[in-house]
Amino acid sequence: AAVPAAAADPAGVEVIAHRGSSGIAPENTRAAIRTAIKQRADFVEIDVQRSKDGRLVNFHDCTLERTTDVEQRFPGRASYRVSDFTWAELRTLDAGSWFNERYAGEPIITVREVIEQVRGRTGLLAEISPCAHYDGLAEDLDAELRSVPRYLERAVASGELGVQSFLVEDARRFAQLRPEVPVGLLDADRPTEAELVALGTWADAVNPQHTVTDRALVDRIHELGMEINVWTVNEPGALRTMAGLGVDGIITDYPQLLTQR
Ligand code: G3P
Ligand code: CA
Repeated sequence: AAVPAAAADPAGVEVIAHRGSSGIAPENTRAAIRTAIKQRADFVEIDVQRSKDGRLVNFHDCTLERTTDVEQRFPGRASYRVSDFTWAELRTLDAGSWFNERYAGEPIITVREVIEQVRGRTGLLAEISPCAHYDGLAEDLDAELRSVPRYLERAVASGELGVQSFLVEDARRFAQLRPEVPVGLLDADRPTEAELVALGTWADAVNPQHTVTDRALVDRIHELGMEINVWTVNEPGALRTMAGLGVDGIITDYPQLLTQR
């Protein structure tokens, strides 16, 4: 993909690499995370789903066809949903070639592998994927975050960990379970006043699509004591506009537009 070419004013805004630096490396792979770290993104955003046998993996789409070679490797399967594949099967897939042959063989990675890669290097914003809902998901994510010794405590202390979801139920469940971790609700539409007031009672952040975001929304979210992280902002003009509105974080496929001055 063509890389947009002008920088925005990043003053004070957290730069959040969407699925890693997914504009220039295959989304949600080690390569995309490595690139985000190199570009000095403040956070890496990931998508948490569950394999058939219960491993938490970093993968965006509900099905595997768009970004892996699953159809060649497992021809004729009735379903290509992530949740219908075991971790051993998922690990055999090539999640890099679709993006560029240079990334041939980049594997799907677990959430634990993401933690090992980011810890001490950059922050982690873990989205509980809408593909993934099941009872116990919040508990499983919490266990995964605690599976790396001292990671959770240190990441919380340094402000380098957040959780978000489009699903109120999952976001709220995680917020109840682990109140020290900031939790945001993702919203594709502009949240109503009633929704914002309700969110203010339990959420730490509201993360709307940037196209529905204006100064009144930013100010209202701040008045209610929450932060706002907008997505997915890739055009230089929109990056400038969002930075100027005083949002707390910008989720982008191109962190370098904000970090390289
Ligand atoms: O982090 C915001 C963004 O990731 C939400 O949309 O579909 O890319 O997960 P999606
Ligand atoms: Ca996401």
